[in-house]
Amino acid sequence: METSGSSGIYDIYKSKKVLITGHTGFKGSWLTLWLKELGARVFGYALDPPTNPSLFELLDLEKEIDHEIGDVRDLEQLKKCIQRVKPDIIFHLAAQSLVGKSYEEPLETIHVNTFGTVNLLEAVRQVGLGVAIVLITSDKCYENKEWVFGYRETDTLGGHDPYSASKAATEVLISSWRNSFFNPDAIKEHGVRVASARAGNVIGGGDWSKNRIVPDCIRDLQNHTFISVRNPYSTRPWQHVLEPLSGYLQLGAKLLGSSSEDAAFFCEAFNFGPHVTNNKNVKELVEEIIESWGSGSWKWISPDKANYESGLLNLSIDKAYHKLGWLPKWNFSDTIARTVEWYQTVESHQKFLHESTMIRDFTIKQIRAHQAARSISPQTLLAQEPTSNFLTKQFYEK
Ligand SMILES: NC(=O)c1ccc[n+]([C@@H]2O[C@H](COP(=O)([O-])OP(=O)(O)OC[C@H]3O[C@@H](n4cnc5c(N)ncnc54)[C@H](O)[C@@H]3O)[C@@H](O)[C@H]2O)c1
Repeated sequence: METSGSSGIYDIYKSKKVLITGHTGFKGSWLTLWLKELGARVFGYALDPPTNPSLFELLDLEKEIDHEIGDVRDLEQLKKCIQRVKPDIIFHLAAQSLVGKSYEEPLETIHVNTFGTVNLLEAVRQVGLGVAIVLITSDKCYENKEWVFGYRETDTLGGHDPYSASKAATEVLISSWRNSFFNPDAIKEHGVRVASARAGNVIGGGDWSKNRIVPDCIRDLQNHTFISVRNPYSTRPWQHVLEPLSGYLQLGAKLLGSSSEDAAFFCEAFNFGPHVTNNKNVKELVEEIIESWGSGSWKWISPDKANYESGLLNLSIDKAYHKLGWLPKWNFSDTIARTVEWYQTVESHQKFLHESTMIRDFTIKQIRAHQAARSISPQTLLAQEPTSNFLTKQFYEK
């Protein structure tokens, strides 16, 4: 049995005012384009695109949205932005998003990620606007116990490296602001609905970040050099960028579309990750990319001992399924195939990139394909994969 799980749920975004922080980044650009497709009025607040090339520039999104260059550490500018836009919903993605960079710039990482999020919540509080807010943190917010089980939203937070610690600290701060100022039991009075989203390792076309495995692989394949792999046996919850974005949109739709009483049920943290069968190690990921690319090879290089990397990281997605009806759609092979197809399409149109809407059209095609795809139901998955743990429905009931 298969289920689409999301039909019509995105209709709520039509004509809604949506503010995205971090809209110039990898996920923010995909989310901006998707929301434009859904008929939303999109506003952006972020620093300049963090990479060159950048998806934001390739898609020419600047022309289509009302966007402001600003720092999330600047409370006054954030307040002015929120006052001016008066969004119905905010997706907060702005962050220093790289684990590697967090070792080089630990204080900056902590500042941007924790104060950036608290400033956003404070700006909403001080402006006094009733709004839905989806705050993006990370699967790395959990204390990593190097076990095979998927982390659940109730598990202990922690963080070995500064990036992970910043995301765990952000979760604690979100919870504090929600309890203290935006309590779900008093939504009728303050009108603010706050949830957070913890996604796994995201891959997909349009990411040119440094020291992320997929952009690194693509650069090496394009340059016909070996792909250097430091930790081939580290396991991660790989997922296509459209998977967590569909989760953020589904969570946002629940916050927006529910009565004050019912919205309280969604004012919590949610994991968005792949089915357990997609939790592959780096070696499997790299080999699948090479196969999909059609050529290439990799070699094992010694890990950077100064920069610790966890070995095992899985996410439980029971809660997103039981409370939101959310499920991932693309399996591991689909995820890699879509990603490679995107970069190869860009490469083959390199000369015309700035003169045509080809990349934009192709990116929209992938968004539509994801929207039209059907999810594998937990029943089917359980029959194929007995270790899947969609067994705890009663745990999430009202
Ligand atoms: N990409 C992943 O694999 C992944 C996985 C889990 C969580 N996340 C989280 O998802 C979010 C988006 O990730 P991404 O991969 O698109 O990141 P990205 O680095 O591509 O983009 C980051 C965005 O934040 C903006 N930004 C950075 N510092 C800022 C500041 N001080 N003020 C205002 N804007 C600032 C950048 O301009 C950019 O728009 C981040 O919160 C990240 O931590 C990403």
